[in-house]
Amino acid sequence: MTPIDLSGRVAFVTGGTRGIGLAIARTLLDAGARVAVAGRDADRARSAAERLGAGTLGVACDVADAVQVEAALTAAESGLGPIDILVNNAGLTRDNLLLRLSESDWDVVLDANLKGAFNTTRAAVRGMMKRRSGRIINITSIVGLTGNKGQANYAASKAGLIGFTKSVAKEYASRNILANCIAPGFIDTDMTSALPDGARAALLEQIALGRLGRPEDVAGAVLFLASDLASYVTGQVLVIDGGMVI
Ligand code: NAI
Repeated sequence: MTPIDLSGRVAFVTGGTRGIGLAIARTLLDAGARVAVAGRDADRARSAAERLGAGTLGVACDVADAVQVEAALTAAESGLGPIDILVNNAGLTRDNLLLRLSESDWDVVLDANLKGAFNTTRAAVRGMMKRRSGRIINITSIVGLTGNKGQANYAASKAGLIGFTKSVAKEYASRNILANCIAPGFIDTDMTSALPDGARAALLEQIALGRLGRPEDVAGAVLFLASDLASYVTGQVLVIDGGMVI
């Protein structure tokens, strides 16, 4: 089997300090890429990068803030080089039934999950256009395809991310910039740890492979989409859910 070699490439991973983002950063680094680990908190971003080791740089930005995003991208590019691979992984939930969903619950989720990807992509795509090469990988969710009770804001943000990705794929294909989504199912991270045991058991029953996903299961798909193996793949949604929705 040909090993995937990303040496010489630079990746920028949002929400890279823990969970799925950290696994993505580690996997891309192991494949030889240099990796900017972006987190909201500067100290946490720095220490995550330090723990990952050489070839990484911690940068701080709230993805919902375009000015902070521009500054973080500039810092990453001056520290590591032009960004070849952008992974929009940062995301959050503020779950509630629609009638109890506040305007701020709506805004916070849409701002981070959807506007965040707009901010980073707009900032990164300029350099990619000049170099006529780039990969944009957006972490959406199975919920963006199916909807979910209590997650109208989250599902809307993740469905929006799919439409955004497909549009970017069409706009920049002629510049050899490929944009794809990964839609994880139920992955064992801080985001899902608060789920009550009953709900967790009920979810497990729906998963054909009979286990929760690991952050590394998602990172492997990112590695594929970032690599030369995926050079004819754009505008797609790759579902990584252990057969939860077939
Ligand atoms: P997590 O909660 O462990 O990590 C999310 C990361 O995003 C954190 O580091 C957080 O600080 C960061 N973040 C949130 N808002 C941000 C903002 N405005 N600016 C910068 N960073 C921000 O969650 P997990 O599970 O690792 O999730 C990663 C991505 O995968 C998210 O987009 C999530 O929606 C998605 N996902 C997760 C699933 C799961 O089952 N865990 C399933 C489907 C999708």
